[in-house]
Amino acid sequence: MWSADYFTNTPVVTHDGKEFRFYEDLIKGKIVVVNFIYTSCRDVCSLATARLAQVREMLGDRVGRDIFFYSITLDPALDGPEVLKKYAANFHTGPGWLFLTGTPENISTIRQKLGERSKSLGDHRNDVLLGNDATGEWGRDSIFADAEHLAHNIVRMDRRERDTPTMKVAGAITGGAPRSLGHVPGRALFVKACAACHKIGDGKHIGPDLAGVTARRPRDWLVRFIVSPGKMIGEGDPTALALLAEYRGLRMPELGLTEKDAEDVITYIETNAGKTGDQDVIGAAAGNGPEGK
Ligand code: HEC
Repeated sequence: MWSADYFTNTPVVTHDGKEFRFYEDLIKGKIVVVNFIYTSCRDVCSLATARLAQVREMLGDRVGRDIFFYSITLDPALDGPEVLKKYAANFHTGPGWLFLTGTPENISTIRQKLGERSKSLGDHRNDVLLGNDATGEWGRDSIFADAEHLAHNIVRMDRRERDTPTMKVAGAITGGAPRSLGHVPGRALFVKACAACHKIGDGKHIGPDLAGVTARRPRDWLVRFIVSPGKMIGEGDPTALALLAEYRGLRMPELGLTEKDAEDVITYIETNAGKTGDQDVIGAAAGNGPEGK
């Protein structure tokens, strides 16, 4: 339990350049979801942001009304409001979700208070903090576990929701049946590591639509790209550079996958293009994310 006097009124600046007092303006009396990112992160930050965007969509207009999302940069020196604004736009974040920066001292104060004490940028935590200031309840949840489950846990921070649940997400998506990811190779991986950014046959999302990707790119290019997009950008691969430019600098993350993982996920993409029935499951489901990242 963290009470009001635990938090400081440290000033923070949003991705729109507005200044707020951290506790008074952003936390007091609210239900909040807080995580830490930095925009030059090459691995899990963007996957985490994309996963939160999925959760945000499930919560609909509750976000901005009862629930507020804050993504705080761990690299305030580099991530000024302009940089955060561009980053946020890539994820279609919408109202009620602020990306926060400030002076390095101020951000450091807030980090310490919220228990984000990692020494280097690379080993920061990838969970979310859930808080209800009105009741003084705070907890942590995994960003990489089931997105729907996280959406539920967020809504349940509201006591009224515990007494009389109104959230219909689960039933609507699964029809009450337990969701199984089955034994289709590549499927579970696609759901947990790709689906937050890519659709197969439903159009461009945060990243390109992957329907037909196996026809437009050579297979060995796909394997190399999925295993390490950064390496291909580093080598000046023209297709990788063109994609990076097209997606306004948003990089496909380094997910630490093996060639075998990449092969499986490519096969899955190849055999599932256009099967929108499966997309429904994929859009909502998730496994456990890249562990330990
Ligand atoms: C955080 C979002 C994100 C995640 C997660 C992600 N990608 Fe991407 N992906 C992108 C973006 C953005 C691009 C385009 C820009 C670039 O290439 O850097 C891209 C590009 C690609 C491309 C090239 C598409 C083309 O038209 O040639 C492939 C293939 C791909 N991703 C596959 C995957 C697979 C497979 C996974 C999961 C293992 C995955 N991506 C996870 C964001 C993501």
